[in-house]
Amino acid sequence: MLFQSNDPASGHFPKRIAVIPGDGIGPEVIAEALKVLQALPSAGQRFQFQMFDWGADRYLRDGTTLPADAPEMFRRNFDAILFGAVGDPRVPSNSYAAEILLGLRVALDLYANVRPVELLDASLTPLRDRREEEVRFTVIRENTEGHYAGVGGQFRRGSMEEVAIQEDVNTRRGVERILRYAFEYARQNGLKRVCMSDKSNALIHGHELWQRVFAIVRAEYPDIEARHLYIDTTAMEMVRDPGQFSVIVACNLFGDILSDLGAQLAGGLGLAPSGNIHPGQVSLFEPVHGSAPDIAGQNRANPSAAVLSASMMLDHLELPEEARRLRGAVRTAVRSRQTTVELGGTLGTREAGDWLAERVAKG
Ligand code: NAD
Ligand code: IPM
Ligand code: MN
Repeated sequence: MLFQSNDPASGHFPKRIAVIPGDGIGPEVIAEALKVLQALPSAGQRFQFQMFDWGADRYLRDGTTLPADAPEMFRRNFDAILFGAVGDPRVPSNSYAAEILLGLRVALDLYANVRPVELLDASLTPLRDRREEEVRFTVIRENTEGHYAGVGGQFRRGSMEEVAIQEDVNTRRGVERILRYAFEYARQNGLKRVCMSDKSNALIHGHELWQRVFAIVRAEYPDIEARHLYIDTTAMEMVRDPGQFSVIVACNLFGDILSDLGAQLAGGLGLAPSGNIHPGQVSLFEPVHGSAPDIAGQNRANPSAAVLSASMMLDHLELPEEARRLRGAVRTAVRSRQTTVELGGTLGTREAGDWLAERVAKG
């Protein structure tokens, strides 16, 4: 091909996908996601995968975390990144993992972390008497600042006088773009409600900014019902009456917590996908879950979250038909109990992946 656009969604093929399996169950679930992607018709011509071995083993071997030229390489040479998970008990500080994952989020300016929650089968929710359509919303998490900005420090470390400070960084630009993303997301997906969740009653500097910017941005979207709840109330309401939510937008830390809560309302982390997105630019797709050292190496991890993340990646690459096939396969698997054990099935990770791949191949 003579010309390849840098826009991941432009018409060129093959789509160049960087794969970072990571640690623990990361490589296990990513192997299945790749198997399922390869089962799509003409996958050989449509996708080109390149593997990157960043993670705990590599870090412990030679100190590599995120190579300095990685962000530029991804921007130039790839259309999307498929990521497993990072985190390893041999590195309790988690520093290398934060450098890789948080490093990519910031360096590629992946400011919108989109985490859909969808109850695929009513039996999977721990809530009593809920229909599938009552647990269907998306958490949109600011992904580049807040408490994750890394601003702060430790003073007199290790002494009884120690001070540890982790600042909550909220910029006008950062807050405005994530709020606008949430409203645009609602509009584009035919959703009518956006709830902004903050803690402006206590965080009177940082989150007061969210209040003011929310007032400005919501005025531009009169077609969307905009509402505010404090974060503590949001958590309570998600359990009491999840049907009231369509889009929830929150800061980095609150979005992290709400998305795990949301995941469990819909059957758990084994089914929860995410996209770390900068519209029109190379973006990163990964399950919400981590490396799950408690089940790693046992063929027990559910690969569905990784497959659904791959499906979000296909949507981002403007391959909606292929994305739909992956989602349809997971939905059918869940409803017919062709799943891993935590969802009531009997399959191992590899067998669940085989089942999904076969289903995807059939169309
Ligand atoms: P975790 O998400 O790894 O696991 C939480 C629980 O959910 C565990 O009991 C695990 O067995 C279960 N679980 C997770 N994914 C599953 C799947 N696909 N199928 C079935 N069960 C699944 O969270 P944790 O235990 O708090 O963290 C473990 C490590 O992962 C830590 O190092 C943490 O920092 C890291 N982590 C990484 C990411 C990421 O890379 N995006 C996300 C979260 C946590
Ligand atoms: C997630 C994870 C990460 C986060 C960790 C591993 C740094 O929990 O992607 O949700 O907090 O963002
Ligand atoms: Mn998390």
